[in-house]
Amino acid sequence: MTTTVGVFDSGVGGLTVVAALHALLPALPIRYLADTAYFPYGERSAAEVEARALVLAARLVDEGCALLVVACNTATSAAIETLRERFAVPVVGMEPPLKPALAQSGRGRVAVLVTPSTARGERLERLRRAYAGTAEVVTVALPGLADLVEEGAVSGPAIDALLRRELAALPAGVDAVALGCTHYGFVRGAIERVLGPGVRVVDAAEAVARRVQQQLAEHGLALPEGAAVAVECAATGDAEAFASTVGRLQAAGAVLPPLYVLRPEAAGEGRA
Ligand code: DGL
Repeated sequence: MTTTVGVFDSGVGGLTVVAALHALLPALPIRYLADTAYFPYGERSAAEVEARALVLAARLVDEGCALLVVACNTATSAAIETLRERFAVPVVGMEPPLKPALAQSGRGRVAVLVTPSTARGERLERLRRAYAGTAEVVTVALPGLADLVEEGAVSGPAIDALLRRELAALPAGVDAVALGCTHYGFVRGAIERVLGPGVRVVDAAEAVARRVQQQLAEHGLALPEGAAVAVECAATGDAEAFASTVGRLQAAGAVLPPLYVLRPEAAGEGRA
């Protein structure tokens, strides 16, 4: 029996994780659910995000997904424990890659870039306590950055202006930055340009893909081999708007796996 993995996020951000997962396991059937009707999670309360995560997870499990990936740091922060309590399938979450960023920092001075909601959450503080030791860890919330990505932008004056404004106050000597929002993977190039060559930017997508591979094996779920399959995407909001954002990201050079977007009237009928 083939194993389908269900992945969700508030919008296109989780596709950075899907790209890493597809690169690792090209034959794995992936169903991606973008909660565009409730985007952005980063401006919502933890309770609201948790409620949405439960709805999305239930839908993906109903659709037959045997493992869930919360490809969203904000939703992981708000809901991962509850998701694991409520659902029998394995649930893989996302956390800012603080530990690898610390490992790559020569000076022990690291910044974590997150949404406002993740910045407020207890989980980030727990992560800091677990790994920071004597290192200096600065949390930087970037309100509005995921919104620009959700419009299909990966670079440009608006992104540069936002990054320059929000990153101006970074303490001197920060030499590694952890991307703590899946949308930010799309603007990694812009972040690297603004921070300059002395700063390493670390993303968690590949580590999460490896974790999914490991969890599939640990739970005895079939690891499909053979030809690559396209990722099936659905959105809770306007499917056309989601498809056109994806198209803009692709046109801007974002690396995405082969995918198709289900239109509501075609849902269940396969390729739209
Ligand atoms: N992509 C999401 C994350 O990883 C959040 C974006 C948003 O909805 O604000 O945190």
